[in-house]
Amino acid sequence: ICSGTIEVQRNPSFSEITSDDIQHFVEILGEKNVVQDEDRLLAANTDWMRKYKGSSKILLLPNTAEEVTQILQYCNRRCLAVVPQGGNTGLVGGSVPVFDEVIINLGSMNKIISFDNVSGILVCEAGCILENLDAFLANQGFMMPLDLGAKGSCHIGGNVSTNAGGLHFIRHGSLHGNILGLEVALPDGTLLDMLGSLRKDNTGYDLKHLFIGSEGSLGIVTKVSILTPSRPSSTNIAFLACKDYLSCQNLLVEAKRSLGEILSAFEFLDSDAMDMALTHLEGVRNPLPPSLYNFYVLIETAGSDESYNKAKLEAFLLSSMEDGIISDGVVAQDINQANSFWRIREGITEALIKAGAVYKYDLSLPVKNIYDIVEEMRSRLGESAKVVGYGHLGDGNLHLNVSTPIYDDAVFTKIEPFIYEWTSKHQGSISAEHGLGLMKANKIHYSKSSESVQLMASIKKLLDPNRILNPYKVLPSSMLFND
Ligand code: FAD
Ligand code: MLT
Ligand code: ZN
Repeated sequence: ICSGTIEVQRNPSFSEITSDDIQHFVEILGEKNVVQDEDRLLAANTDWMRKYKGSSKILLLPNTAEEVTQILQYCNRRCLAVVPQGGNTGLVGGSVPVFDEVIINLGSMNKIISFDNVSGILVCEAGCILENLDAFLANQGFMMPLDLGAKGSCHIGGNVSTNAGGLHFIRHGSLHGNILGLEVALPDGTLLDMLGSLRKDNTGYDLKHLFIGSEGSLGIVTKVSILTPSRPSSTNIAFLACKDYLSCQNLLVEAKRSLGEILSAFEFLDSDAMDMALTHLEGVRNPLPPSLYNFYVLIETAGSDESYNKAKLEAFLLSSMEDGIISDGVVAQDINQANSFWRIREGITEALIKAGAVYKYDLSLPVKNIYDIVEEMRSRLGESAKVVGYGHLGDGNLHLNVSTPIYDDAVFTKIEPFIYEWTSKHQGSISAEHGLGLMKANKIHYSKSSESVQLMASIKKLLDPNRILNPYKVLPSSMLFND
């Protein structure tokens, strides 16, 4: 659909779906959970960005882990390729078929199984929507340890499978730390019970970590056990302007030093990202005098003592203003204003899609070098494209997006492989949080040694000998299909 199309061949060893297969799925799931309706198939075949599109003829909606295992066992025996799908909000083409893979969407598996209000441990099915889980926990005085712009659609199973980062990573860290246990259906139909709810358990290899971030290539996550933090009673948000990138960097250093234990988000956007949001999102306005500043930073603090937190944030802002690190700023006075600040930052992804074609990159880099690549890209592309920088600065994660009215090969060839080579040269990662999916399966060597990639391929072959799970994603197809 887009320029820079990824060249992959359908693996001829995969079977094509027959009416007998469909009949078998109906026997497992019942008629209404075996979807062949054209409109619903079109939606399930197309990714959130409308950039990747498969041609699957079948969408399966299991209600239980046992049904997932029965489907997988059958697909494995028949050599039918499968794509696991959650909320379909992924940004690297991982959640939709490349060709005619069977789509297994976990959306019907959305039950909360248990919540322990002493330990904060939540156990739920993989298809629970992130925002619904957070709303459930809010009633109990707890919160989900991750938050992202796609929270209204993404599933916890999808979050685990992508090892999603998001807006509170700086405070609560990676899902590798927060996930206590998983239940996973393996490609041969084995249900792997790793659904522990212990914080400490050093008995043997911690297998759940293989599935966190493996993007549905090793197994289908069916249940999740997650440690959730107490919900802070006091949250404050400041929307700030900085004159240059160095000031943003200095502000981060100061925020970590002075706000320490109450710092819960440190996000940044440049003025081109701000322009995108202002131009393409309804009802969004810049809370600071427009067109004056090059960079904006959103700082959130969260804690248990309203007056202490407020005083701490105000003192920090005052000293940062005096030192010239901040050029301007405003603190949200109520929840509506706080939400309007978040809308700017979280809405950039949507604004970019509305603007036309978007080339999306998600880089981890040393904070000192992070913005250099945005500037280099601007000088490479000149007037031919808009280059937009935003992201989770507190985590060293830049979202570099190139926006053009339509997909354009001349632009694409100026971006890739340059951006990957640059990132590799600066010891960065070509995927900080979105994963590799289809988009970057062939690019993994820019961030991982050949020995590591070889070991990953061996693990994949061990768990999925017929390579039916999410083929063409994560690892280069040449390593998996040529033996
Ligand atoms: P899907 O998109 O359905 O799937 C993603 C991958 O996981 C696919 O490879 C799929 O095969 C696999 N998968 C899904 N469910 C399962 C399962 N149960 N078992 C095994 N494999 C499975 N990401 C971030 O990290 N941080 C952000 O801040 C962020 N913000 C976003 C904002 C917007 C507006 C959008 C559209 C996306 C954003 N994303 C972000 C990307 C995306 O939301 C995350 O990757 C999310 O975790 C995907 O969840 P999902 O349920 O939509 O999964
Ligand atoms: C974000 O931080 O907004 C998300 O990761 C989505 C994006 O990169 O656009
Ligand atoms: Zn992000």
